[in-house]
Amino acid sequence: MSKQQLIAMTHSLIEHAKAGTLEQTDSIVEIPASSYTDPELFEREKKQIFSRLPLMVAPSCELPEAGSYKAMTVAGVPLLLTRDREGKVGAFLNMCTHRGNPVALGEGKASRFVCGYHGWTFKNDGSLIGVASAEDFGPVDKATHCLKKFPVLERAGLIWATLDPNSTLDIEDFLCGYDEMLEHFGFANWHLFSKRTIKGPNWKTAYDGYLDFYHLPVLHANTFGADFFNRANYFAWGPHQRLTTPTVKHDKLGTNESMNLEDVPEKDWPIDALLAGVWTIYPHISIASFYGGSSRGALLSQLFPGDTVGESVTTQYYLMEREPTDQETIDGANQQFDFLKTVVEGEDYATGKRQHDALMSGLMENVLFGRNEGGGQAFHRWTERLVSASDAELKTIFSHQQAAEAAE
Ligand code: FES
Ligand SMILES: [Fe+2]
Repeated sequence: MSKQQLIAMTHSLIEHAKAGTLEQTDSIVEIPASSYTDPELFEREKKQIFSRLPLMVAPSCELPEAGSYKAMTVAGVPLLLTRDREGKVGAFLNMCTHRGNPVALGEGKASRFVCGYHGWTFKNDGSLIGVASAEDFGPVDKATHCLKKFPVLERAGLIWATLDPNSTLDIEDFLCGYDEMLEHFGFANWHLFSKRTIKGPNWKTAYDGYLDFYHLPVLHANTFGADFFNRANYFAWGPHQRLTTPTVKHDKLGTNESMNLEDVPEKDWPIDALLAGVWTIYPHISIASFYGGSSRGALLSQLFPGDTVGESVTTQYYLMEREPTDQETIDGANQQFDFLKTVVEGEDYATGKRQHDALMSGLMENVLFGRNEGGGQAFHRWTERLVSASDAELKTIFSHQQAAEAAE
């Protein structure tokens, strides 16, 4: 079913390419410039979006085996991800139930965590198994002093968590069927080759760039080239969007190989042709496929708001279909990854920071999203809607959304 959807999208892209057209929205949209610069709105977004919606917190291959764990901070919330003996992923508030010290730091392998302050011990399923000097401390009901659990879901080789322990929003509902599409990448069996963290501008300024092909041949003239395409069609599953260019060709990005899809029967279209373009996961993920050192790879960018309205932090994960073993493939992958870091940090984010500083002057009322920039229009529409939705409305929005997707 979802494969049929991929094929149908590809046909539509081919038809648009042959007609020399793209899908346009009805009108140009104005967004208040203050939506990028207002510190109060920024705090609301952290609370209403990042502390309330399911977030893709790690690719599965970052926690590759039983005992793997990762500690991270998301919009001020200390999060601990673990994989237990049965391979099940857990997401916990990384705060010792004694006095709140994070029980785990960094990442690695451990079946239990000893808090570094007074020595309380927790298993990697969150249970409290040891109170230091228990007879001195006094009686503690261990069952009610486990690490606080967050809702978590592992799907399509990716891990989502909702940083609200009381959330009743179903993560599957939130995904609106998009996880079925993402399954086609096969990330569950991929390998994490490398990752790095870079600083960027306001999270929405940064995310706009991931939803935008319009800028490619201009901003990236010196890296991707001035002949690069600047058109995208958008496909949406709730707030999650794929953008891809209308074309009859399948170019293997990072190589010189190209295929005319019309010369090949539809049943033989390679999966990477069907998955071309950028797949974003609302509100903060972008996935783009590349080839590095002859092996299939993907750059997964995970974006979080930073400390102030003008800052964000992005972790770039370089995922590879197979773990490279020979030096040539390793060098090729490293080269590809370095190139992508230069593009994002030196071109996208450097521009985003200049843009942000200029918007901070307060002298521009609105920014514009053209009829060819439907992805950005939808992103801002969803963000505005979700920031102001109550918890109950949030649930309704996504249960309706899923029903609507199912009916299509
Ligand atoms: S804060 Fe963890 S043992 Fe005291
Ligand atoms: Fe860019």
